[in-house]
Amino acid sequence: MMKYINYFKMTIPALSRNESFARTAVSAFVTQLDPLVSQLSDIRAAVSEAVTNCIVHAYKEGDKAGKISITARISEDRAYIRIKDNGCGIEDIKQAMEPLFTTKPEEERSGLGFAVMESCADKVKVSSKKNKGTTVSLTFIIEQREVL
Ligand SMILES: Nc1ncnc2c1ncn2[C@@H]1O[C@H](COP(=O)(O)OP(=O)(O)OP(=O)(O)O)[C@@H](O)[C@H]1O
Ligand SMILES: [Mg+2]
Repeated sequence: MMKYINYFKMTIPALSRNESFARTAVSAFVTQLDPLVSQLSDIRAAVSEAVTNCIVHAYKEGDKAGKISITARISEDRAYIRIKDNGCGIEDIKQAMEPLFTTKPEEERSGLGFAVMESCADKVKVSSKKNKGTTVSLTFIIEQREVL
């Protein structure tokens, strides 16, 4: 069982203007573990894709903006980030995670969001239920710097 040393939770409306806020908030929080710049940029990229998916796919256009809940937890050497929506859900998670699979080709989506998450994070877990929502859990191992 991992011992968390700190956490934060926030809920924001699923609006595209919140995408950069969400990734900035998470990366500012994780900064306390003193990650490498390259790791921080991986975290930002993965969070950005997960949050963008909530904004673009989870809620029907025209509806009132739904919610995105973000929880970040850190242990001494790991960051766990959970991005959750209460939207339409994903019917076939395995298919959705295949590179280049998209349900919105007409909107110039390339179907690479999950592929980016998988390449940036050490672990990606997706759970989803139709009309209940989707939860993406990202784990990052924060390399400890050598003390000289
Ligand atoms: N939060 C979500 N709610 C509902 N469906 C989702 C969610 N996240 C992803 N999906 C589904 O999974 C598919 C694949 O997601 P992925 O992020 O890999 O590609 P994309 O969003 O379509 O394109 P890109 O991320 O390259 O712009 C989406 O097209 C969508 O059908
Ligand atoms: Mg996407």
